[in-house]
Amino acid sequence: MLTVENLSVRYGAVAAVRELSLTIGRGELVALLGPNGAGKSSTINALTGLVAATAGRMVFDGKDITRARTEDRIRAGLTSTPEGRHIFANLTVGENLRLGAATRRDPKGVRQDTERFLSLFPVLAERYAQAAGTLSGGEQQMLAISRSLMSRPKLLLLDEPSLGLAPRIVAQIFDFIGQLKNEGLTLLVVEQNATQALRFADRVYVVSSGSLRYDGPPAKLADEHGLLNLYLGG
Ligand SMILES: Nc1ncnc2c1ncn2[C@@H]1O[C@H](COP(=O)(O)OP(=O)(O)O)[C@@H](O)[C@H]1O
Ligand SMILES: [Mg+2]
Repeated sequence: MLTVENLSVRYGAVAAVRELSLTIGRGELVALLGPNGAGKSSTINALTGLVAATAGRMVFDGKDITRARTEDRIRAGLTSTPEGRHIFANLTVGENLRLGAATRRDPKGVRQDTERFLSLFPVLAERYAQAAGTLSGGEQQMLAISRSLMSRPKLLLLDEPSLGLAPRIVAQIFDFIGQLKNEGLTLLVVEQNATQALRFADRVYVVSSGSLRYDGPPAKLADEHGLLNLYLGG
């Protein structure tokens, strides 16, 4: 579904991503792990077009999207839930959900999807007309993921969905991610919480200092390479 070849991202003198290649197959959940500053968010943001790739090539669903606008990538079915959630705190829960569907032209489908997330997360229904900023961190993350799903992506990129959340909430969020995978959604999940990310991962990439260090099944990462200790602190 996605092929990335030799992706590089630079911010002036800083090389954040160095010739990174990865693939994501239809229906796969791929985990992208690595320490702080490894270039994970830069990779995600290059995939959605929020930052420009300095070099490399990205093919999504058979189309070269290397230079495509973010909006067109969303239309094509590639969406992210950025790090730090980025819900619109002053807009209501309902308005946040509607913004996620901004690229769609099927009001009936949008209404159906809205209903789906409101029944999946009753707290979003209770707070539908309230400012999203009044939600707890975990509720905001549920809203942020629901908002991304409102664009009906084929591939969803999640950047640190567990960041700053209590363990019980983290487990709930990953249960939901597992459910999305079971429904057939293709996912790339960036995490520092390796234990949670590896619960559902089919394959894992580990990056540090912008370069790929490991590519393979989760079991091998834990058993043979000791990379979890080396790069992720256990
Ligand atoms: N907008 C930016 N301008 C300059 N440097 C940046 C910017 N964003 C990230 N960086 C740098 O790029 C590197 C990778 O950052 P990032 O992609 O956020 O890593 P991660 O998500 O793995 O923590 C870091 O050294 C970071 O300081
Ligand atoms: Mg990051």
